[in-house]
Amino acid sequence: MQSKRIFIISALVMIVAMASQSFSYIQPNPPGKLKNIKAFPATMTYDEVDHQMDIFKVSLGVKCNHCHAPSKENPPKLDMPSDDNPKKDIARDMIRMTRDLNEKYMATVPHKEGAPLQEITCNTCHRGNIKPSDKVIMEEHH
Ligand code: HEC
Ligand code: HEC
Repeated sequence: MQSKRIFIISALVMIVAMASQSFSYIQPNPPGKLKNIKAFPATMTYDEVDHQMDIFKVSLGVKCNHCHAPSKENPPKLDMPSDDNPKKDIARDMIRMTRDLNEKYMATVPHKEGAPLQEITCNTCHRGNIKPSDKVIMEEHH
């Protein structure tokens, strides 16, 4: 009898533990976690922004600190919402430009039915370079 009761209690504890864990999974992006979004769509979640950041990093061949300013309180860390690094606003214009290229121009390019239209991305131009033509210039001089 005693062991049956312990079994029921531990089963209940497990169910509560699993339920609270899955609850935290369905709320990965608490509102207000993003503080200073001006160029991305307002509907973007924190995880989606974070994923884009990794793509930026690789496309330009830089680290996060190329566009993000150091924290004033804790300088070894970066202050992601801060606009103190002017590269961040350049990147915002690049986000807008890339969106315009896709929505205004690429969308009208005729392509084979069923074939996906290639999208313009940061990497289409940058190819791992801070300035897109850097690599071309280097190749020309070799
Ligand atoms: C090429 C420039 C660039 C690089 C590199 C970059 N970011 Fe960003 N990041 C931006 C821009 C621009 C925004 C704001 C976008 C907007 O306003 O819609 C932003 C926004 C963010 C935000 C949201 C801040 C907020 O709450 O408003 C986070 C978090 C972030 N970046 C993290 C990172 C991390 C982590 C890395 C490195 C893996 C990184 N970024 C690399 C340009 C960059
Ligand atoms: C159509 C081509 C093109 C696309 C697409 C593009 N860029 Fe650029 N980007 C450029 C060119 C060209 C420059 C160099 C401008 C200059 O300084 O002469 C540049 C410069 C930049 C710079 C400044 C680099 C520095 O430190 O001097 C940042 C930051 C940047 N781009 C971010 C992005 C991001 C992020 C994306 C994607 C959202 C993107 N770019 C998409 C062409 C492009």
